[in-house]
Amino acid sequence: MYNPGGLLVVAVAVLAAMATVPPHEYQAQAARAFFVFGDSLVDSGNNNYLATTARADSRPYGIDYPTHRPTGRFSNGLNLPDVISEQIGSEPTLPYLSPELTGQKLLIGANFASAGIGILNDTGIQFLNIIRIFRQYELFQAYQQRVSALIGPAQAQRLVNEALVLITLGGNDFVNNYFTTPTISLRSRQFSIPQFSRYLISEYRPILSRLYQLGARRILVTGTGPLGCVPSALAQRSKNGECVPEYQQAAEIFNPELAQMLKELNAEVGSDVFVAANAFQMNMDFISNPTKFGFVTSKVACCGQGAYNGVGVCNPLSNLCPDRKIYAFWDAFHPTERAVRLIARQIMTGSTHYMNPMNLSTIMAMDSAN
Ligand SMILES: *[C@@H]1O[C@H](CO)[C@@H](O)[C@H](O)[C@H]1NC(C)=O
Ligand SMILES: *[C@@H]1O[C@H](CO)[C@@H](O)[C@H](O)[C@H]1NC(C)=O
Repeated sequence: MYNPGGLLVVAVAVLAAMATVPPHEYQAQAARAFFVFGDSLVDSGNNNYLATTARADSRPYGIDYPTHRPTGRFSNGLNLPDVISEQIGSEPTLPYLSPELTGQKLLIGANFASAGIGILNDTGIQFLNIIRIFRQYELFQAYQQRVSALIGPAQAQRLVNEALVLITLGGNDFVNNYFTTPTISLRSRQFSIPQFSRYLISEYRPILSRLYQLGARRILVTGTGPLGCVPSALAQRSKNGECVPEYQQAAEIFNPELAQMLKELNAEVGSDVFVAANAFQMNMDFISNPTKFGFVTSKVACCGQGAYNGVGVCNPLSNLCPDRKIYAFWDAFHPTERAVRLIARQIMTGSTHYMNPMNLSTIMAMDSAN
């Protein structure tokens, strides 16, 4: 049916929309988009929408979040993606599964991370229904189609190419796979730690290449933290409160190999797409010298029970420290917001000892000059 009047209304509406945000200029007005992939260190609530035991949806999680309620973040307050968003002048990215992620909010980016996952497909099987990394990528593709419908394919492509990306994987492949009991995983019978590390790197490489293929061009890759120093490790295997050597060794083998692999990938694509964030060292700074950073302890979790408050999960019945600002660890595995802010500061302005080949402030300056 021909309806010139209706068409005119549509045309005027389109013109009005263009007048507020000309499609070719939205990037200049909006902060760059931010995409997050990985595990519980960066999950902002996707697992709340899944049938899994890996969740942070009960009090006192979120006690220091602006709403003072649990959000699915494994933190007392903000997590690493939140603080990075803050630093790049962006709104926090919503979990991809959140029903609020629609319309213009899509242009902020999205968080696809899911607690419990690892590099390997069989990592985290004990948590049942979680979003493994290849599935996170399928959701990223679905996201790109939605953005394409909103602002057109060329602009959607540009939004993704110009975005900042964070990926955090690897810790669970050790903690919730290699180092678990043989009833959960036989990996430690199959592989020595150096062999397992090499295997992880060989599986991580195509995962990172795929992210590049999907359009990502600035990708921060955090290695694993100091696996042997987290309260859970101390509670299970420490003698006299020392970091567990076997776990530390795993991280000390894996992280440099990861950094080397990122260099190779950059050489392959001919540009500094992949940036290694030395999360191990960033954490070790305040773990080895907590008082220098204003913490009373880096061994005892704020929320938990048993030795070092490192046994089991943080829940409404756990011991809870009164002041989260003076604890490095929030629960048995995850840092407090205050510790996360120290990590984010090194990501932003750290030397090449922490950020290689460059820190985020340098990336921001370079990219805005282009
Ligand atoms: C992991 O799963 C993905 C997608 O389901 C598959 O493409 C990949 O080959 C799997 N990796 C291994 C080592 O089995
Ligand atoms: C960030 O990285 C650059 C380049 O490595 C370095 O010169 C600078 O000191 C670092 N810190 C800040 C605050 O930019």
